[in-house]
Amino acid sequence: MSQLTKNTFKAQAPSNIAFIKYWGKKNIQEPINPSLSMTLKNSKTITSWEIIPSDKYELEIYLDDVKKDSFKSKIEKWFDYLGSDFDFLKRSKSIIRTHNTFPHSTGIASSASAFASLSLCLTQIHSHVNGKELEAEQISELARLGSGSASRSIEGPFCEWGGTSDKFATPLKNVHESFMNLRDAICIVSNEKKSVSSTIGHGLMDNHIFQSSRVKQANLNLNLLNSAIENGDVWKFGEILEEEALTLHSLMMTSSPSFILLEPNTLAIIKHLRKFRNDYNIPLFFTLDAGPNVHLIYLSKDQQKVESFIENDLKSYIPYGVIYDEVGLGASILYE
Ligand code: PMV
Repeated sequence: MSQLTKNTFKAQAPSNIAFIKYWGKKNIQEPINPSLSMTLKNSKTITSWEIIPSDKYELEIYLDDVKKDSFKSKIEKWFDYLGSDFDFLKRSKSIIRTHNTFPHSTGIASSASAFASLSLCLTQIHSHVNGKELEAEQISELARLGSGSASRSIEGPFCEWGGTSDKFATPLKNVHESFMNLRDAICIVSNEKKSVSSTIGHGLMDNHIFQSSRVKQANLNLNLLNSAIENGDVWKFGEILEEEALTLHSLMMTSSPSFILLEPNTLAIIKHLRKFRNDYNIPLFFTLDAGPNVHLIYLSKDQQKVESFIENDLKSYIPYGVIYDEVGLGASILYE
């Protein structure tokens, strides 16, 4: 083991949008059901982590140069989960600076991009201290310990977690070329903070009356979605996408306590989208995160038609604008 010296490490990582939804956990941040997501390209977190050897453990976190003590407990919980290889963190001072390329509370999971970028910084610190490089799967595992969905932000274009392993995510090997340029237009219906945190949300599944059928459905949908992505079956792909989005919200609505996160504008967008799809036979689909904002998923060849549909028919339901993103390849180390 080499001596820890003062050093700064940088990385960037994208967020991801789940097509098969992770909802419910067991053990330490392991999912009760498998999930599958598309890695985004433009919506990302850029993180720098300065580590300074010290007699005293210290942690400072800044978001856009503003000190965020409120983030400390989540990061410290992560430190506790990391295991003895990372004990050096408790004997040093860490100064973490992060910046998101997307606005807050937009339905883009900043915890996924944040913990993926932190994990890629941490792997550099680890190799600096222990002289060992970590594999992508190990980095995904580190990210998972911070936020489950972050495990799927290390690689791209699509990642699966909970099928092969509950510990880390792996990229899909067989992706049909028509899915290689998938688009995501994120319609911001509301910019309010989520009314149910994902920790509380996952907890709602512990005693949920539909728990076992949900796990069965997710496993089935994982197989169906994997073959649709492999064979370029965009219509089957879309059918599963929408079933998963509505299942996530149905689970929330039927839990105890119950949550309704959909807004009237969410439903209006879905209704217009389905009419547009039927009228023009264009494979445009929606998915939802644990909130009211709508992710419109489509092929790049339909980009122009979909974007004019958004502009002409949906604008009045999207008071906070649209973020245009697309499929991406994952996290990367940034060298000064
Ligand atoms: O990673 P978490 O704990 O923020 O949970 C994410 C849950 C969903 O975004 C609703 C679904 C998913 O698979 O990303």
